[in-house]
Amino acid sequence: MSLYKTNEEVAIQRESCLMVSATITEVAKALKPGITTLSLDTMAETFIRDNGGIPSCKGYHGYPYSLCISVNEQVVHGFPGMYILKEGDIVSIDTVVFKNGFHGDHAYTFILGETSPEILDFVRITKESLYVGIAQAVTGNRTGDIGFAIENYTNGQHGYGVVREMVGHGVGREMHEDPQIPNYGRRGSGKKLQENMVLAIEPMITMGSREIYTLDDGWTIATEDGLPAVHFEHNVCVKKGKPEILSDFRPIEAAEKQNINLNSSYYQILAENQ
Ligand code: MF3
Ligand code: CO
Repeated sequence: MSLYKTNEEVAIQRESCLMVSATITEVAKALKPGITTLSLDTMAETFIRDNGGIPSCKGYHGYPYSLCISVNEQVVHGFPGMYILKEGDIVSIDTVVFKNGFHGDHAYTFILGETSPEILDFVRITKESLYVGIAQAVTGNRTGDIGFAIENYTNGQHGYGVVREMVGHGVGREMHEDPQIPNYGRRGSGKKLQENMVLAIEPMITMGSREIYTLDDGWTIATEDGLPAVHFEHNVCVKKGKPEILSDFRPIEAAEKQNINLNSSYYQILAENQ
């Protein structure tokens, strides 16, 4: 499988990435305390299929749903279900859409209602770390430059935990392609980045210890210490000088700001990053 894409392929893949953005936007409009996470999954699957996409997660190595919904101490791959969302929950939505031969794969974390300043800082800094990592996705750099930047920002400067067992990845005709993109690393180490590689860059950051475990469902990853985790993900095309972000948080952020059930007071920094 080729690691680089033609400009035409990247343009086609962008549509899949934007359909993920649109799906998460629909979820952002519906999010509120009192609903089940399963209801969000049902809605998202309908939305994706109505728009000519296929929810790639459903059936992927037996994964049963279209969305991964990871709440509070859950890091990634949480199962939608009968859990009823409540004020203060930290809700990460991650999904993958397949259309016209390419996958888009990204994620966003929301806060339901009021929370503490510590949680607001934690979500904001994780989100900022995504852009700190993306800035390194230029030709000539290596995967370790992305990992170093994310780890240095989240752990080095802020003392949060960086999950090591799961990593970002190339994305294209397959959901997971080479190269792997750890959220930690040494500058100048790892695979060389080449123009038109499309990467899923996805810091998975914990408020406390980085130790994790897998729940009995075989999928859901949660923090060992029960403290919250946050996950943001973009799809990024490697370019000379300035990376190109294929996914789009702007409609998600607009919905987040409009939905009075969501806390968006942490997100100001973001607008100028896109
Ligand atoms: N974005 C996640 C990942 O890359 C979601 C995969 S779909 C799942 O791992 F089926 F594995 F959940
Ligand atoms: Co991914």
